[in-house]
Amino acid sequence: MAKRELESVDEQDKADLEGIEVHLLTEGIYQHYGFDFRDYSLPSLRRRLWKRVYAEGLTTISALQDRVLHDSSCMERLLLDLSINTTAMFRDPSFYLSFRQKVVPLLRTYPFVRIWHAGCSTGEEVYSMAILLREEGLYDRTRIYATDINEVVLQRAKAGIFPLERMQEYTDNYIRAGGKKSFSEYYTAKYGGALFDQSLTKNVVFSQHNLVTDHSFSEFNVILCRNVLIYFDKTLQSKVHSLFYDSLATFGVLVLGSKETLRFMAHEDAYQQIAPPEKIFRKVK
Ligand SMILES: C[S@@+](CC[C@H](N)C(=O)[O-])C[C@H]1O[C@@H](n2cnc3c(N)ncnc32)[C@H](O)[C@@H]1O
Repeated sequence: MAKRELESVDEQDKADLEGIEVHLLTEGIYQHYGFDFRDYSLPSLRRRLWKRVYAEGLTTISALQDRVLHDSSCMERLLLDLSINTTAMFRDPSFYLSFRQKVVPLLRTYPFVRIWHAGCSTGEEVYSMAILLREEGLYDRTRIYATDINEVVLQRAKAGIFPLERMQEYTDNYIRAGGKKSFSEYYTAKYGGALFDQSLTKNVVFSQHNLVTDHSFSEFNVILCRNVLIYFDKTLQSKVHSLFYDSLATFGVLVLGSKETLRFMAHEDAYQQIAPPEKIFRKVK
C-alpha cells in the first residue's frame, strides 16, 4: 500500500477509535450518573471532551472515562464543559418585540399564566421576561419555572448579578425589544456587577431539570427553549419536543431559538408559527 494510503487508513482508524471512546464514555456517564449525553451532536461533544482531557493533564478520552467514573468532582468539571451557557438579556430583541405584540394579548385572556424557561442558563432571559411581563401588567398573575441541567448556572441566575460591562449592550437590546422605561431602573451597581431588582424573581422558581431524562412536571401556557436543542441530535430533539407537547396546554405557545426549527420533529403538525420569522409557535391540536 502506498505511504499516503496508509496514512489515510491510519487517520480513519483514529477517528473510528475516538468514536468508540466517546460512545463508551457517554454510556458510562449515563449508567453511573444518569446524565445522558449519548445523543448530543458529535463534533461539539468531541471538542468539549478534548478540552477536558487536556485540562486534566490526560492524553486520551479513555483516560478521561476512567477519571470521570471514579471521581465525581471530575464529572462536575466535565458537566460545566458540556453545557454551553452563552446567553444575554433581551437576546434577539425582535423576538421580544413580537412576544409583546403577538403573545401578550393572548396571555391577557388568561386569569393565571404559567411559563417554563427550559435551559435558562444564568437567567438573563428569565429576568428579561419578568421585566417585559411587569411592563405589560401581567407579572403578578404569572408564575415562571426556570430550569437548567446545570446547578452552577442556576445559582448565578438566582443571585441576579450580571456583568456591568454588558449593560450598554443590554440597554440597546431592551430598547429594540420595545422596552417602556429606562433600563437602568432595573438594576443597581453592587457586588462588582449589576444587581437586578430582586422583586423580578418574586414569582420565579429556579430548579434543576434535565430535558433528556426528566419528565414533564406541569402544564404551561408558554414554553421557551432557546438555543438548547441545537446541541442535540435529531432523535434527541424530537424526544424533547414530545416532552414539550405533553407539557403545553392547548393553544399554548412554544418558543425556540432563531436557528432552531420544528421541521421533521415529533408533533410538527400540531403547531402554527404565529409571528414568522420569529420562532414562536402555537399549539393548535
Ligand atoms: C446556550 S444556553 C441557552 C441559554 C438561553 N436559553 C438563551 O437562549 O440565551 C444552553 C443551556 O442549555 C442547558 N442544557 C444543556 N443540556 C441540557 C439538558 N439536557 N437539560 C436542561 N438544560 C440543558 C445548558 O446548561 C445551558 O445553560
